[in-house]
Amino acid sequence: MLQDELIFLKERVFKELQGLSTLEELEVFDTHILGRKGEFTMLAKEIASVPVSEKPILGQIINEIKKTLSAAFEEKKKNLSPRENNSPLDVTMPGAEQYIGHLHPITYAIEEIEDIFKRLGFVRARYNEIEWDYYAFEALNMPADHPARDEWETFFISEKAVGLQGRILLTPHTSSGQVREMRKYSNEGLPVRMLNIAKTYRRQIDISHLPMFHQFEGLVVDTAASMAELVGVLDYFVKEFFSRDRRIRLRPYHFRFTEPSFEVDISCTLCSGKGCAYCKDGWTELGGAGMVHPNVLSAGGYDPAEYTGFAFGFGVERTYLMKNNLNIGDLRLLYTNDIRFLEQF
Ligand code: PHE
Repeated sequence: MLQDELIFLKERVFKELQGLSTLEELEVFDTHILGRKGEFTMLAKEIASVPVSEKPILGQIINEIKKTLSAAFEEKKKNLSPRENNSPLDVTMPGAEQYIGHLHPITYAIEEIEDIFKRLGFVRARYNEIEWDYYAFEALNMPADHPARDEWETFFISEKAVGLQGRILLTPHTSSGQVREMRKYSNEGLPVRMLNIAKTYRRQIDISHLPMFHQFEGLVVDTAASMAELVGVLDYFVKEFFSRDRRIRLRPYHFRFTEPSFEVDISCTLCSGKGCAYCKDGWTELGGAGMVHPNVLSAGGYDPAEYTGFAFGFGVERTYLMKNNLNIGDLRLLYTNDIRFLEQF
């Protein structure tokens, strides 16, 4: 009988509905049952061939079943749609991509610099950002009121000088670590091979100067530290950090804490040595270097008659900017904290 067949079909549809797990499957099944050519629709059409007296009852039954089935399909659809279901989690949804950051380019540069000097036997050290005048100037052969101090455009923190140590300042160069390091080893007459990388501060800001920047400072004190070794060390660094074809230039200079002294320039990467807004004449200064002054060796506890030393101090940011093909024409960009800039490295 048609009525029984309809009821069977209803039961079967209910069972099969339970097994469906996606909206796509549900849609196909819906068409297959309730669609224009669907199983239920076709079956319901058979009402045409039943005796007229049975038609009203059967018609009602057909309508009832159709309503129940439609409702069941709706319900199932809700269950399968996470939002309508208010379900907080749909494990089948593709997740939002996680943003993966990286270290600041200057941190990478510091790691690379450390690594290169390690191969030459330098040991990483780190000295105070907040320092006594004594270590930043006095012990480096620059007594109070010496005009050479002006070059360091120093931020002073305290106004009053305390005994021999003087005023408190933000260290304007990593050379302030020189005497501190020497005093660790001079008692036992041990050699020094320090690489001090730290933050330094000066009252300055333009495309090639920052008020806060980093320096890396090499210091070697030994019985036979020589100028030739210093030049060899600098040359090795430049070849490793830049490339074999980059050139450096040593320009005679004057520092109170080294004698002789010079400044080290590198051919500019931005203009390939032709001259540009950043470098002006095709060369850009990386920092200073020289043979440690006898007065500084004495301040560190070494007898200058027996020991010699060499030192160099370069700006990390300036050095990094000169990397081959790196096209950053303004040091300040490194610290604007603009993620669009930083994520390019
Ligand atoms: N401290 C010097 C500067 O900041 C650089 C330097 C370091 C020069 C070591 C000589 C020796 O300009």
